[in-house]
Amino acid sequence: MSRVLLKKADIHKGYLILVNREYGYQEQYQELSHVGMWNGAEILYERRANRALDDLMKEIGGWEHIVPVSAWRSMAEQQAIWDQSMAESGQEFTQRYVAVPGHSEHQTGLAMDLGLRQEEIDFIRPYFPYEGICQTFRERAAAYGFVERYQADKQSVTQIGHEPWHFRYVGTPHAQIMVQKNLALEEYIAYIKDHRYGTDPYVFREYQISFAEAAGDMTVLELDDAHPYSISGNNCDGFIVTQRIEKGDHDEG
Ligand code: DAL
Ligand code: ZN
Repeated sequence: MSRVLLKKADIHKGYLILVNREYGYQEQYQELSHVGMWNGAEILYERRANRALDDLMKEIGGWEHIVPVSAWRSMAEQQAIWDQSMAESGQEFTQRYVAVPGHSEHQTGLAMDLGLRQEEIDFIRPYFPYEGICQTFRERAAAYGFVERYQADKQSVTQIGHEPWHFRYVGTPHAQIMVQKNLALEEYIAYIKDHRYGTDPYVFREYQISFAEAAGDMTVLELDDAHPYSISGNNCDGFIVTQRIEKGDHDEG
């Protein structure tokens, strides 16, 4: 067994943080890496998410037809996008398609907007249809840890309009569970909260997933280190522990 000490601020770190209208992003150290250029700007993406994206694109030959339009954004960039959209398209459109500055998944480095490669690409709403190479991407996304974050039937949950182009890296096996159960990230975080660490983990394939509530300034978890594990904050009130109980072919890293 090993003892893991988690600081209160750690709830704001990790691949499963929920960032939305209710829960803002708390700036963290991020490892960003180069994806490509679009419209004269460098696209930067969280390092592990970028590796997973590249693996997926290699599998489907995606980069020939798909372009990265927007990934990591600074607070200043999100503010500039918001201001420009408000000026050009008004409040209703902006609130639907642009997250309030400080509350955008793009600030985490884990969100990626993709567009079908074509002459004109709309920066706010790139074309990423439910057919062809874009659909192939979508169908393989969960196996690499990505989810389509703002689906048509989840607008009342996410408070964001339908965005077929916006993908969020949460890692495996979480993406697969979310797709299998048709859960938005808000719903998945709530679902896992009902599976408490140490008593009632949710079991998916060779994984045990559970929630540990943050306990004051320091949360102490006793973990069975014979099995690989990863821990992410949920950005709300605690930690999601993912443990692999048998050897499998997915590596949580
Ligand atoms: N378009 C998404 C909601 C964002 O601005 O983060
Ligand atoms: Zn986006």
